[in-house]
Amino acid sequence: MPQQSQRVALVTGATSGIGLAVARLLAAQNHRVYIGARTAENVVSTVKHLQEEGLDVDGSAVDVRSNTAVHEFVQAAVDRFGPIDVLVNNAGRSGGGVTADITDELWEDVIDVNLNSVFRMTREVLNTGGMRTRSRGRIINVASTAGKQGVVLGAPYSASKHGVVGFTKALGNELAPTGVTVNAVCPGYVETPMAQRVRQGYAAAYDTTEEAILEKFQAKIPLGRYSTPEEVAGLVGYLASDTAASITAQALNVCGGLGNF
Ligand SMILES: NC(=O)c1ccc[n+]([C@@H]2O[C@H](COP(=O)([O-])OP(=O)(O)OC[C@H]3O[C@@H](n4cnc5c(N)ncnc54)[C@H](OP(=O)(O)O)[C@@H]3O)[C@@H](O)[C@H]2O)c1
Repeated sequence: MPQQSQRVALVTGATSGIGLAVARLLAAQNHRVYIGARTAENVVSTVKHLQEEGLDVDGSAVDVRSNTAVHEFVQAAVDRFGPIDVLVNNAGRSGGGVTADITDELWEDVIDVNLNSVFRMTREVLNTGGMRTRSRGRIINVASTAGKQGVVLGAPYSASKHGVVGFTKALGNELAPTGVTVNAVCPGYVETPMAQRVRQGYAAAYDTTEEAILEKFQAKIPLGRYSTPEEVAGLVGYLASDTAASITAQALNVCGGLGNF
């Protein structure tokens, strides 16, 4: 069988945690991977690191909250590697607290980073990235099990991730006849810098230690442990493959059994 030519993947939030594991796996699976995150020096060092591993990776800084930045980012990716075959909307932030005390700024930023950005980046990739005129494509949105169930002290986060799941289902159905699939991957608890910040937040809110919060969270997970970024990346890599052509408009968990819905 002839070797499949390299495909182009775009991964947001790829300097840390899940996004970094996704970029590494897709590059290992014969994709040219263009990465982005806000902190330019981290993009440069991540690109360098992955290139040193022999992977075909480049990238530039992007803030997914800005239409202009998103346009420039997708254009730069196309100029560098060509039209986009795979988009992984992974950039995201945590955020919550006692709902009655949540400021407009916090609410709006969580919704903007986690939800509006997914629409913004997807529209840009469909147009500037050329995906709407192609007969095959993959859009993979990193949502959360918090996009399927309510998380106490996480109303903005849960609302944003439910929104991502809804967007995924609607767009998946819309694009199904075109050969572009759209799916959400829903991690439960995954050990990343974000997970550490979340534990810090709950420790402060409940006036206890981060270790106690870790124990409490682990006790809720049937598997008894956090998932790894690589385990989440594995499902993303599968959804990007040809074999996954009939999976669309789905929201699939990687969560050690935390959510079974
Ligand atoms: N860890 C978990 O337990 C867990 C569970 C469920 C879902 N998730 C979801 O998985 C995704 C990745 O989470 P993670 O745990 O890997 O987080 P992380 O380690 O904090 O990494 C977040 C990445 O996103 C980038 N980012 C943040 N805000 C951005 C913005 N406005 N524009 C562009 N890039 C931005 C960060 O770089 P800069 O700060 O430099 O921009 C970083 O590269 C998120 O969508 C998160 O909600 C995580």
